[in-house]
Amino acid sequence: MQDRIRHAGMHDRLMSAEQAAALIGPGMTVAMSGFTGAGYPKSVPQALAARMDAAAAAGAPFRIKVLTGASTAPELDGALARANGMELRLPYQSDPVLRERINNGEIDYIDMHLSHVAQHTWSGFFGNIDLAVIEVAGILEDGRLIPSSSVGNNKTWLDQADQIILEVNAFQPAGLEGMHDIYYGTALPPDRKPIPLTAPDERIGEPYLHVDPAKVVAVVRTDAPDRNSPFSAPDEASREIAGHLLDFFDHEIQRGRLPGKLLPLQSGVGNIANAVLAALSEGGYEGLTAYTEVIQDGMLNLIRNGVIKMASATSFSLSAAGVKEFNDNIDFYRTRILLRTQEISNHPELIRRLGVIAMNGMIEADIYGNVNSTHIAGSKVMNGIGGSGDFARNGSLSVFMSPSTAKSGSISGIVPMVSHVDHTEHDTMIIVTDQGLADLRGLAPKQRAQLIIDRCAPRLPPHAPGLLRPRQARELRQAHPPPPRRVPLLARQACRNRQHAHATGPPPNRLNPITQHLNNGRNSQYQVLSMDGVGIVSFRK
Ligand code: COA
Repeated sequence: MQDRIRHAGMHDRLMSAEQAAALIGPGMTVAMSGFTGAGYPKSVPQALAARMDAAAAAGAPFRIKVLTGASTAPELDGALARANGMELRLPYQSDPVLRERINNGEIDYIDMHLSHVAQHTWSGFFGNIDLAVIEVAGILEDGRLIPSSSVGNNKTWLDQADQIILEVNAFQPAGLEGMHDIYYGTALPPDRKPIPLTAPDERIGEPYLHVDPAKVVAVVRTDAPDRNSPFSAPDEASREIAGHLLDFFDHEIQRGRLPGKLLPLQSGVGNIANAVLAALSEGGYEGLTAYTEVIQDGMLNLIRNGVIKMASATSFSLSAAGVKEFNDNIDFYRTRILLRTQEISNHPELIRRLGVIAMNGMIEADIYGNVNSTHIAGSKVMNGIGGSGDFARNGSLSVFMSPSTAKSGSISGIVPMVSHVDHTEHDTMIIVTDQGLADLRGLAPKQRAQLIIDRCAPRLPPHAPGLLRPRQARELRQAHPPPPRRVPLLARQACRNRQHAHATGPPPNRLNPITQHLNNGRNSQYQVLSMDGVGIVSFRK
């Protein structure tokens, strides 16, 4: 195979990962490639972590600010977090070690819409980008770069960073060349022009990234796979969620609100999203398109079997089996997949124009349709908002899905008031759980609440917190008429109850004062304060 480094001058800058990592100093702002565990630098961050460990042992802590496209992998986020080498991280993560440090308050984490990162960088909100470490699949004779398995923010990092380290990863298939579409026409207002993309399969840019060769201070050869996390096999709840969604799509097609080939699909990260995609292959569809952020195994299978004829994204997030399937059949996939920068894959203008169907996972939704995608109990981050807001806010349909309970049925995914809001009731159109689907379009708050309770949480186990089943709601409503409010939720009491639940910790089967009241009946230490029109109550101890 031809050498991956074809630019003569770049050979002079070849060095080891350790030598390249030595170019990074404490306090620097370092932008790195990587998006959902694909296309991240594999060796320089680990060599850097070793330097950080040595510095810490010598009593001189060495920390940097790290910006990426999205989540990376143990070799980057895990290694730097373990070495306590990050003071700031943005815009998305999913690494367990990093998550723990963030939630312990040791690392500042900016959780932001992925489409905003490039423009915020150009505006200088993150300060000067001292250095970028970018994985590429190759360097052309003229210095242009063959992007790797993700594009993310690489165009912006290459433009904005003072100095650049390139990792040329020979493990990435040479057949990636030609799969990318890098658009160089974006700008800050008032110089912004319409982006000329009207269908997911259109090319508006070129297959290569540009870099000023003078800024490249090191080139490092690597030969290592991406993170390749396995997905759990679709469980019963995921299959039920998928079934409700497919029924809904059929209904919308019959009503003439969706075309027979649907509209371009966006599918979020996580096991549920992957399982829903897998189920789509049984829906009798063919020739669909996807305008999304990430290509997971489920999406790859849909492309393989012709259900999806073309997918536009910014990255892959595949299991090891998915990578093998992709690499073995790369010529087939190259004509059916386009990878773009994340400012384009997630661009509000394009998502709105194309009428994308946005389908994303969630931690919890409340009965009015506010959605929490990111935080457990209001303060501990799970991953981040990622692109879910870009798509939900601008899609023609915004779907949020989750099993109706988490943690073996002990926590309700449908609650009176979410503990953290990522997507407001104004952006949420469809809520789906294994129990059913609530179409919130055209409904006022009380109607939304009734529908979400009836459809998405009618059969919760008796100890499910914060939620009333219809019979209990009716009984309590008779005893306590609702206050005349547009949104009949007494927020202060709801917060107080939630705080109490978290302060005391959730003992098994007794996770929330509301539940406790219901379970203990008249012996409860909680007194009903009021009832709303749909059965959600505020309680006082
Ligand atoms: N309370 C406590 N924990 C909860 C919970 C709740 N209400 N709901 C989910 N969880 C936990 C699960 O138990 C699981 O924990 P574990 O890893 O310890 O087992 C974890 O959250 C993931 O949940 P899971 O049910 O496996 O779903 P998932 O893999 O589909 O992920 C999100 C769900 C919300 C975490 C994921 O979709 C996400 O990060 N979304 C935000 C970003 C996004 O949407 N990006 C897409 C844009 S393209």
